[in-house]
Amino acid sequence: MTNKPSKPINLFDVQASQKVIGQENFLKAFETILNHGGYAQGPETKELDQKLAEYSGCKYCATCSSGTDALILPLMAWDVKPGDAVFVSSFTFVASAEAPTILGATPIFVDSDPETYNMDPKDLERAIAEVKKEGKLNLKAVIAVDIFGNPANYDEIMKIAHTNGMKVLSDAAQSYGSEYHDKRAGNIADMTATSFYPTKPLACYGDGGAVFSNTEAENEMVKSCRVHGMSPEDHYDNVRLGLTARMDSFQAAVILQKLKVFEQELKERHAVAKRYDNELSSYFHKQKVLDNCKSAYGLYTIDCADRDELMAYLKENGIPCGAYYPRPVNTQTAYKKWNTRALPVCEKLSKTVLSIPMHPYLDTESQTYVINTMNEFAAKKSSKAA
Ligand SMILES: Cc1ncc(COP(=O)(O)O)c(C=O)c1O
Repeated sequence: MTNKPSKPINLFDVQASQKVIGQENFLKAFETILNHGGYAQGPETKELDQKLAEYSGCKYCATCSSGTDALILPLMAWDVKPGDAVFVSSFTFVASAEAPTILGATPIFVDSDPETYNMDPKDLERAIAEVKKEGKLNLKAVIAVDIFGNPANYDEIMKIAHTNGMKVLSDAAQSYGSEYHDKRAGNIADMTATSFYPTKPLACYGDGGAVFSNTEAENEMVKSCRVHGMSPEDHYDNVRLGLTARMDSFQAAVILQKLKVFEQELKERHAVAKRYDNELSSYFHKQKVLDNCKSAYGLYTIDCADRDELMAYLKENGIPCGAYYPRPVNTQTAYKKWNTRALPVCEKLSKTVLSIPMHPYLDTESQTYVINTMNEFAAKKSSKAA
């Protein structure tokens, strides 16, 4: 048996960077806001828009109130409405599918690739062919989710979507900081949504999100929809339906501080992932990252036939872990109406995947303990089977 570290192990650590950045720097930034009084969408949000667009390498960024709103706003900008088909992964957090559905569009659930856990382009093609054959819905958009921080197969997905006259929205809620070939999240799909919820790779201290785009027209539409469909010329003329989806200045100030250590944090996440990749037993099937891509490792996730037993074993040994996601969206109560396609890979993954501790401040001793404890489980299982 490996010795348990003296400090508790966390699945995420939402507070650790506070010490590294210095609490006084957050307080100073908050004091500035208290003094200027621009609490909602104040100067900090404008600075953040610019810094995030630069970081992603895209033209525009519009920060907003959450990752969910960051998904809804581009769909509103593209005029997604009843009668439209929006193709979306089912093995994801519910918000990916909720965004088109709340606008009245029909979510068409697509199966996952068993290695990357992301949307399977072949099943996307099948789903499109089915919708075309039925002839009732207008092909509108594809939402590609970078599950657990791992970039989706954008070359294939964008080719298929564009050939069929559809836009691609990247749900990069879990993958800000990831790279697809030579591009960063935010600059890969037609538009991108991300979340700054506290457990995300780049996080705030509440709710926050951002929309990334490369055309002025799309960015202007997003900004208008973010504030009740307001006209940029006349703030008392609302020219379309919209939301209240502004980011507040305090959250922007937090993210501006966190950006200072973001690159280093990504390096640390990669170092933890490398140890897991190299040292965890082959009994655990590791999530595949496509060639020339970098995951942001929002989570580190393995696939294991005895998932529930492994989860109990790890918890008994003081290792937090999570089964994300135990129910694909198409099987959830509110979405059963649209549960029209067989999604065998999603169904299987929901029973076999497990996310283990992953954050930039997971110390070497804790990493070793996680690895050894998991390998002990694998050895017990393998010797029983022999
Ligand atoms: C894949 C995915 N999409 C969207 C969201 C929604 O983000 P938020 O919680 O900021 O609304 C999340 C949040 O967990 C997510 O994981």
